[in-house]
Amino acid sequence: MVGIRNTARRRPAHRAAAASHSPPSPRPGCWRRHPASGNSPRRPVSPHRRGRPRRGNAASHAKRLPRTIADAARLPFKTASYDVVVMAFVLFHVPQPETALREVHRVLRAGGSVGLTTWGQDAGARALEIWNQELDRHGAPPDGPLIAQHDLMNTPGKLRAMLQRAGFHRAQVDVMPWSHRPTLRHFIEQHRTLGVTGRRLALLKPAAQGDFLRHVRLRLEKARVHDLVDRGKVLIATALTP
Ligand SMILES: C[S@@+](CC[C@H](N)C(=O)[O-])C[C@H]1O[C@@H](n2cnc3c(N)ncnc32)[C@H](O)[C@@H]1O
Repeated sequence: MVGIRNTARRRPAHRAAAASHSPPSPRPGCWRRHPASGNSPRRPVSPHRRGRPRRGNAASHAKRLPRTIADAARLPFKTASYDVVVMAFVLFHVPQPETALREVHRVLRAGGSVGLTTWGQDAGARALEIWNQELDRHGAPPDGPLIAQHDLMNTPGKLRAMLQRAGFHRAQVDVMPWSHRPTLRHFIEQHRTLGVTGRRLALLKPAAQGDFLRHVRLRLEKARVHDLVDRGKVLIATALTP
């Protein structure tokens, strides 16, 4: 999650310029206060650099941004202290999503905005079924519990209603088709190392992991290119505090 303050409304011009140099993408599970919000002093940014950050600057800038690790349902921030909150693919992982939205509503000032994305209904790639069948066949233990309450918010109607129940108004939800077409090599690399599939594989003994990878590769080589494609829908929502 990312919290943003509109420093331009109440800071001198050079502080507002600094805001344009903030990196574009959030880090998982993090809240950022912009350095210009007052917590970390910052030198004025030269007008020559406005809008033209040097290559590599964004990454080092991101490392210096203050972060807070917190449960979205109990935010350690003052009421009405942010202008914008962004929750990219976070809400369905929170045990009490509506409580989290109420918390977001609380920390936003009047007229503030929340922007969030969730997954719509998604069948998943056929190749993933093959991968999971092979994991089961090789005796990989199940992964630990992962909260992913997609059913609560996977249609525009459900998401809009949840935002309204949390006190937001002018909720707008758009649906965007999404797809990922990995090569076989990328598919294997992704599922070998990341997420639930990677964690389950890591629970097997090294010899069983090698055996699994040989078998799954043989099966996937026979699959059609189409079977590797993951298609879904992303719901993109915005709403305002009254
Ligand atoms: C799928 S990741 C999304 C990360 C990032 N927004 C992105 O788009 O790459 C889900 C994030 O939700 C965060 N998360 C899960 N439960 C949470 C909770 N109760 N409160 C706050 N964040 C939570 C996790 O830390 C994780 O970073």
